[in-house]
Amino acid sequence: MASNKMWYTVALGFLLPFSYAHTDFFTSIGHMTDLINTEKDLVISLKDYIKAEESKLEQIKKWAEKLDKLTDTATKDPEGFLGHPVNAFKLMKRLNTEWGELESLVLKDMSDGFISNMTIQRQFFPNDEDQTGAAKALLRLQDTYNLDTDTLSRGNLPGVKHKSFLTAEDCFELGKIAYTEADYYHTELWMEQALKQLDEGEVSSADKVYILDYLSYAVYQQGDLSKAMMLTKRLLELDPEHQRANGNMKYFEYIMAKEKEANKSSTDAEDQTEKETEVKKKDYLPERRKYEMLCRGEGLKMTPRRQKRLFCRYYDGNRNPRYILGPVKQEDEWDKPRIVRFLDIISDEEIETVKELAKPRLSRATVHDPETGKLTTAHYRVSKSAWLSGYESPVVSRINTRIQDLTGLDVSTAEELQVANYGVGGQYEPHFDFGRKDEPDAFKELGTGNRIATWLFYMSDVSAGGATVFPEVGASVWPKKGTAVFWYNLFPSGEGDYSTRHAACPVLVGNKWVSNKWLHERGQEFRRPCTLSELE
Ligand code: OGA
Ligand code: FE2
Repeated sequence: MASNKMWYTVALGFLLPFSYAHTDFFTSIGHMTDLINTEKDLVISLKDYIKAEESKLEQIKKWAEKLDKLTDTATKDPEGFLGHPVNAFKLMKRLNTEWGELESLVLKDMSDGFISNMTIQRQFFPNDEDQTGAAKALLRLQDTYNLDTDTLSRGNLPGVKHKSFLTAEDCFELGKIAYTEADYYHTELWMEQALKQLDEGEVSSADKVYILDYLSYAVYQQGDLSKAMMLTKRLLELDPEHQRANGNMKYFEYIMAKEKEANKSSTDAEDQTEKETEVKKKDYLPERRKYEMLCRGEGLKMTPRRQKRLFCRYYDGNRNPRYILGPVKQEDEWDKPRIVRFLDIISDEEIETVKELAKPRLSRATVHDPETGKLTTAHYRVSKSAWLSGYESPVVSRINTRIQDLTGLDVSTAEELQVANYGVGGQYEPHFDFGRKDEPDAFKELGTGNRIATWLFYMSDVSAGGATVFPEVGASVWPKKGTAVFWYNLFPSGEGDYSTRHAACPVLVGNKWVSNKWLHERGQEFRRPCTLSELE
């Protein structure tokens, strides 16, 4: 029990201060661009300060040199020196006024401009929670994209323009954040990486003893007693007096001895429960596993037979007069559920307009709380979004009409156009777009029924990551600027199609812009009539 207390002390000692996030910087690129500009301004201000300080020092140096010479001559022959009346006068003047002026110069504060800039800008700086959010995003990306710690630390990511690496200190920081989340798996990975970089000779202020302290604890928490012991031994070689490590060592030895004893008399019953919990863990994983595999592009491949039935074609919106002369390119992305992609369906100019309209209004995206039906933010939806109405811009209105023409569905009952921006690590975990029967009716207030279909524009390419994936069926749809995908969420009967469960994979490199239109049931009664069978 004494050793339990020791670990307890570790836990309390390392708790980070807590504060509230003001803007969730890490969720989108827009606000982070502002931060980069702020930082640039601060660097300019810092350089001005350095210049001012340097010129001040220069003046002081000159004075010192002049006085150095003068006092040299004077001290060699004081009487001769003072025999000259001018020298006598100048000595009086120097001591009475000039040294005083020098004193003022030395005391003069050159940092005013820089410090006041700093004070103003600091109100807009990210806080602890933003930093933790960004770190957690990094850990999430590591898992989703199976990146090993070394690759991530050396910055060897696909599609990056500006290579950037992590210092041992940074790795230690990430490990600590994982630690405060009780995420010992990542604590171990990152502490080990910090240690590795120090072992390879990286010059750093990170302290091996601290790292080993965290590392051995994380390893112990994950049940590898002998490795925890080995690490503690290493810590004690560096710091033989380390109190906690000494205590832990004794504790490990005690536990080891006890386990040996217990092993001798272990029963089959214990093995059984161990197996059961393993099975439970596996049962819990599939969707997450499938989701992550699809995000990595390791999709379950469709059979060639099915694939052969996917086509591309020119589509005129079912003889829509606006498209008969200029049909659009349409491609089948998937058969069941049917997902189609429209190519060159939104121009670069339209995209720019939509982004500019949305930017000032972007705020953290929300979801319907299934318990209360109210809107809240959630860790599984990390992005910033804004709604645009057709009334505010002819471009938005034109886009809405296009969706109506090409889907054959009435857009007057649709929700407004939603614009979303995902920053690095931004994602939307598997979800349905439609409301389920067992949920409080999220769309009741709208009075337009359930979300019958989803139209999703890709308004940017994404350097790496950011696919839209359908884990139930194994489909991955990759973002491509200027295209849009469309699928029905409901069967014609109005029943929800559970195979449309989908997710937005975390962005690994770059950032992702989409906009979507959720079409509703009302108004479609004659456009998409009900069929006889429920799940047809
Ligand atoms: C959504 C959604 C997918 C994507 O916003 O509901 O599923 O790829 N988005 O952004
Ligand atoms: Fe969705």
